[in-house]
Amino acid sequence: MTTLNVSLGQRSYPIHIGASLLDNAELLSSAVKLSRVAIVSNDVVAPLYMERLRAALEKVGAGGTALVLPDGEAYKNWETLNRIYDHLLTERCDRGTPVIALGGGVIGDLAGFAAATYQRGVPFIQVPTTLLAQVDSSVGGKTGINHLRGKNMIGAFWQPRLVLADTETLNTLPVRELSAGLAEVIKYGLIRDLPFLEWLEENIDKLLARDAEALSFAIERSCANKAAVVAGDELETAQEGGRALLNLGHTFGHAIETGMGYGEWLHGEAVAAGTMMATELSRRLGWLTDADVERVRTLLMRAKLPVSGAVLGADRYLDLMGHDKKVIAGRLRLVLLKRLGEAVTRADTPEAEIRAAIEACCD
Ligand code: NAD
Ligand code: GLY
Repeated sequence: MTTLNVSLGQRSYPIHIGASLLDNAELLSSAVKLSRVAIVSNDVVAPLYMERLRAALEKVGAGGTALVLPDGEAYKNWETLNRIYDHLLTERCDRGTPVIALGGGVIGDLAGFAAATYQRGVPFIQVPTTLLAQVDSSVGGKTGINHLRGKNMIGAFWQPRLVLADTETLNTLPVRELSAGLAEVIKYGLIRDLPFLEWLEENIDKLLARDAEALSFAIERSCANKAAVVAGDELETAQEGGRALLNLGHTFGHAIETGMGYGEWLHGEAVAAGTMMATELSRRLGWLTDADVERVRTLLMRAKLPVSGAVLGADRYLDLMGHDKKVIAGRLRLVLLKRLGEAVTRADTPEAEIRAAIEACCD
């Protein structure tokens, strides 16, 4: 097992990464008092892992209640959130009842937002079971739901007390979901870690083959990168750079997710096509070479991710991107690549260049 720390003063917490951690009752009880808990999961993950988690909790004297929600991005909405509140109230959960998210990023974001707001905030624990959740969404405290007009538009920052990433749960993950997680892994290499990008180019086949050692390394390195960025700009308020850099490709990708209807494209798939657009735009601004762009395209394709976003027209992209959270005072702040391994934020990119980059990636 490897343990990393997210350093946020009084809100600091550990990320434990390793095999069979679901059964490790001591780890679960180390971060927060666990006499009674509320587990939130979905109807795909619960049949696989709920009983093991409950058995581990029982070993440390923690009983509680479990809510199993329908699976899918399309349920990351107000109605499902309300089901969590209903459950917590019906089960008489109080301010000391930790909420545990058992699942991927959808469950983590939903349960985390419920924890942030139920009785003005209760302790929260993340037990991520997808690659995407283990490398990204379970760390950093962003929680929330989608709105029909925009992805992740309603939410709160609410840090977990503990992240428990059992790498063995990835053995049951569908291959398409594994690839979607790799989009966020590749992101860390592109925005701030060139040696990791080079390691990914060497090891992408091992990751797709679920080589345990390679997966553990990629998860640890991704979490270390995310923890460092979040520690420096927890609430994404930095004027330049900062936490916003974690959104490489996301402004374009969110347009695909919203425009196509939530769940049609996986989040990681949309991020991959969006990453190609950001990469192409960075080339147009003179920062990347043709060879750099091909390098990114090749890696994404080897990870079995889409590199074309030809599902929406450029006008629709630009319209949807205008609703992004990174629009401040009417100006779209984009994450771009100064070089491979170094990202920047820019709010002055001419719309004609953005349009041209979108069109170039819509073949
Ligand atoms: P997801 O939660 O929908 O999970 C993907 C699929 O895999 C689902 O069908 C799920 O039921 C299934 N699944 C989960 N674990 C499994 C397992 N071990 N075995 C078999 N099936 C399993 O999707 P995701 O990719 O984990 O997360 C995407 C969501 O995360 C998006 O809503 C995105 O906006 C959000 N996100 C949030 C942050 C953040 O910082 N909060 C960061 C990145 C993404
Ligand atoms: N996934 C982007 C962030 O956590 O800031």
